[in-house]
Amino acid sequence: MTARLYSASISGIDGVEVEVEADIRPAPEPHILIVGLPDTAVKESTQRVESAITNSGLNLPLGTIVINLAPADLKKQGPGFDLPIAMGILTCATNANWETEAWAIIGELALDGSVRPVKGVLPLVIEARNRGKKNIVVPQSNGMEAAAVQGIAVYPVETLKEAWRLVSGELMPRPAICPPTTFEAEYDVDFSEVKGQAYARRALEIAAAGGHNILMSGSPGSGKSMLAHRIPTILPPLTDEEALETSKIHSVCGLLKRDAGLMRTRPFRAPHHTISDAGLMGGGSSIAPGEISLSHNGVLFLDELPEFRRQTLETLRQPLEAGEIIISRASGTMTFPARFMLVAAMNPCPCGYQGDRRHACKCSPALVEKYRKKISGPLLDRFDMIVEVPAVEPSTLVSAPAGEPSAGIRSRVTAVRELQHRRYSGTRFRTNADISGKTLQAHCRPTPEATGILTQAIEQLGLSARAHDRILKVARTIADLAGSGSITEEHIYEAIQFRAFENRLR
Ligand SMILES: Nc1ncnc2c1ncn2[C@@H]1O[C@H](COP(=O)(O)OP(=O)(O)OP(=O)(O)O)[C@@H](O)[C@H]1O
Ligand SMILES: [Mg+2]
Ligand SMILES: [Zn+2]
Repeated sequence: MTARLYSASISGIDGVEVEVEADIRPAPEPHILIVGLPDTAVKESTQRVESAITNSGLNLPLGTIVINLAPADLKKQGPGFDLPIAMGILTCATNANWETEAWAIIGELALDGSVRPVKGVLPLVIEARNRGKKNIVVPQSNGMEAAAVQGIAVYPVETLKEAWRLVSGELMPRPAICPPTTFEAEYDVDFSEVKGQAYARRALEIAAAGGHNILMSGSPGSGKSMLAHRIPTILPPLTDEEALETSKIHSVCGLLKRDAGLMRTRPFRAPHHTISDAGLMGGGSSIAPGEISLSHNGVLFLDELPEFRRQTLETLRQPLEAGEIIISRASGTMTFPARFMLVAAMNPCPCGYQGDRRHACKCSPALVEKYRKKISGPLLDRFDMIVEVPAVEPSTLVSAPAGEPSAGIRSRVTAVRELQHRRYSGTRFRTNADISGKTLQAHCRPTPEATGILTQAIEQLGLSARAHDRILKVARTIADLAGSGSITEEHIYEAIQFRAFENRLR
């Protein structure tokens, strides 16, 4: 007889159903053959499955066992088919009669028969649920992640034997408990730890409120990394939909925390400047999401910005505008979400101490010029805000009281985000940072006095038309934070400050 079981494979960040058929033909020796476009990990499944069945005290049938994975044209990846293959063989060999149609099965096997965690369980469970499966067997440590999906009973198992006893009715089925769907984000860092730095704190609040990309320049140890790490803590809480989207991407990359449900915190990703294009943008032979997609709904932090290859930074332009990345390879085309806040840091010069009050800069003017050229022009245009972050005085570090906690800042940011959400409903824009063209003109009209100041500043500072629009968008956010419908002089003045430093970089 043949047996047909159901499993799933990952394609991009989604699951695709895969049928696992098993057939046994008489032969003197046991032998497993897998057909249906398996990759190397799937081919190696035969070895693991043989050992796992035998070491579980179950019977490996004599004969040639043919495993067919369908649909045939889908490339099957990874070791997650071990468990359904083993259970298909057992079903076939024992003529067991269980409701295979109602179940989906996922898991890698170790040689001793224990079930190992696999990547991408979250989208795989979503796929099974959407196909109308009632139950799913998953590896124990993927249980919480799987149980976050509503509408399907999740059975986490530790061994092949346990899975087999479960489906064949020998074990009392006890589905995993769904993790709570409403939760408070808990971060292990907080803005209260940052002493002084009133200007940088204010800049980051504006950036977070309007979704503006921000570049910080300052000497070593001035606190740029410290500040950047705390940005997710002042962004609005993840919505259910965002939590699911972000968790799916992390699940596919095997980065979701074990024994936890969906992600509760916004991602913060800080790739090193030596990162490959595929690592940053996504790609590789099986087209996996890159850092920009892992930052989706969170923060992408590029520390030591001038050290990144110019070409690499140029490729960020398209996803920054589109909020997604399209990757084309011979093996196909994938679209991954990539809507993130870009935060970058740099030193003002190669030694790092130009403008520092306590250290002398050792760099020649020519060297400083060369260093700054690395990020001039089009790259600076990626940032709505550029701020100087000078080191706080040692006396401040010692004696200043704790700063305002993240929760207070977050509530102001959230209110302003909600305002933007309402204002831009029905458009493709979400935040002040996104808007352009007519929408920008309609919503960023300063008072005549404020317009006068802006025109004057543009002339004096020699700013570009792009910089003009950026100042307007930042001023819109500043006015929103102040609860003001119109953009007045003080809002424009403050927004201009975040562009003034640019001239020293150009
Ligand atoms: N304002 C501050 N309040 C409290 N601690 C601070 C502050 N500024 C700096 N520190 C302390 O100094 C350490 C170094 O700061 P951080 O690593 O963020 O500097 P940086 O600007 O990123 O430096 P680099 O340019 O070398 O990367 C922090 O981990 C923190 O302990
Ligand atoms: Mg740093
Ligand atoms: Zn220097």
